[in-house]
Amino acid sequence: MRVLKIAALLTGIAVAALLAAGAVIYTRADTSTVGKLEFANELAIPPLAEPRVDGAGRKAFDLDLQEGEVELLPGKKTRTWGANGPHLAPTLRAARGDEVRLRVTNGLGRETTTIHWHGMHLPAVADGGPHQTIRPGETWAPAWTIDQPAATLWYHPHPHPETEDQVYRGLAGMFILDDPEADAAALPHDYGVDDVPLMIQDKKLTGDGALDFSKGLIAPTGRLGDEILVNGTHDPHLEVRDERVRLRLLNASGARIYDIGFADDRKFDLIATDGGLLAAPQRMDRIQLSPGERAEIVAEFEPGERVVLRSFEPDLGTNFWDGRFSGADDSFDLLEIRAARDLAPVAPLPERLVDQEPIGLEEGSEVRRFELSGQGSINGRSMDMERIDEVVRVGTTEVWEVRNRSGTPHSFHPHDVRFRVVEYAGGPPPAHLEGLKDTVYVPPNESVRLVTEFSDYTDREHPYMFHCHVLQHEDRGMMGQYTVVE
Ligand code: C2O
Ligand code: CU
Repeated sequence: MRVLKIAALLTGIAVAALLAAGAVIYTRADTSTVGKLEFANELAIPPLAEPRVDGAGRKAFDLDLQEGEVELLPGKKTRTWGANGPHLAPTLRAARGDEVRLRVTNGLGRETTTIHWHGMHLPAVADGGPHQTIRPGETWAPAWTIDQPAATLWYHPHPHPETEDQVYRGLAGMFILDDPEADAAALPHDYGVDDVPLMIQDKKLTGDGALDFSKGLIAPTGRLGDEILVNGTHDPHLEVRDERVRLRLLNASGARIYDIGFADDRKFDLIATDGGLLAAPQRMDRIQLSPGERAEIVAEFEPGERVVLRSFEPDLGTNFWDGRFSGADDSFDLLEIRAARDLAPVAPLPERLVDQEPIGLEEGSEVRRFELSGQGSINGRSMDMERIDEVVRVGTTEVWEVRNRSGTPHSFHPHDVRFRVVEYAGGPPPAHLEGLKDTVYVPPNESVRLVTEFSDYTDREHPYMFHCHVLQHEDRGMMGQYTVVE
């Protein structure tokens, strides 16, 4: 009898455990907004910041970081962070050769922050990584000269280990670079009209509209929101008046990976990735972006039509379980594009866009290896602000080999430099990774080889960061520091 009772008890426990596991899987049902939106709101376009230009032609921008309140959902107030406004940050714009000065003032109550210029080639002291802290009430004023090709960069907080939450509160903006010499390419360039920034972020909102900071019990990549905002607009639409429109896509989310295309599967041209224009447009129907990555696409529209820009289920290269909890089953309608009845004609894209600046690999180039393991270490070590992990000699070209030693999605982003992907998951880089990049997705149990050049800006004391751009991983220590020296 006693044996039977114990057997029954054990069976009971086993059944309960199975039910609990089932419930966990069930509660993380696919999240999808496909077909559920009304596209009721006009897409906000982040304002272009007006610089003060001094006698020497230097451009000065002021960013006042502040707390605020916005209506993300109709009739509900959400407390957010922004620069020069309650939510998000203005678009900064400068051209190659410009000397820029930023004045960043922290008005965020009691929170210390930093502002990092993601994708920018600049001295380490101006980089805005975790060492360049701005305390409440303080102003930080970095300056540098823009010396890199035209590109869509962005900026966001980077205090260690608070980046995920601070970006989530809404501090993020674009930094568009122009290149007067290379911009000859006839591309749409009328900001907010035929050249439209699209900052994509996911949020979880509580019933009364507040930002929800909770994470699921199983959240290998961090918080995944079920509401998607584009430029801070929920349920957005965009009216276009041109046959061809350039969209600058930025994944400014902490963890979510989007596979972006159109609901009717129409093709578009990829013209630029993180580091700038491609040599030639690439025709495709999907572009996948992990956090921090950007892509510029040009799409064509027919008079009077409406078409939805959508994020399809991303291909993360994960197993069923990891995929499910990293958003691999999720899909979202991002934005409805409404074309006017009369569309202004636009010339077709040029066949060649720019001459790529070659990154030449020399014999005997240093090969550095970076192993991303678990959720918070690189080469077995967790981020230490006091430790310099790598020292690079200026004027050299190196191969950085990044391996994901886990089942979890990771990515890799070095500060200061752009790189070329020379090998991706055992093969040549796919078409969308042929251009200049500064952030790259590294699928589970795969490796990626990057080639990059460290041309200038030496500093023995102040390091640049390299890290996984899944912000929960970065905050948990999947980050290291390198210096560039003589
Ligand atoms: Cu976009 Cu180190 O960051
Ligand atoms: Cu990661």
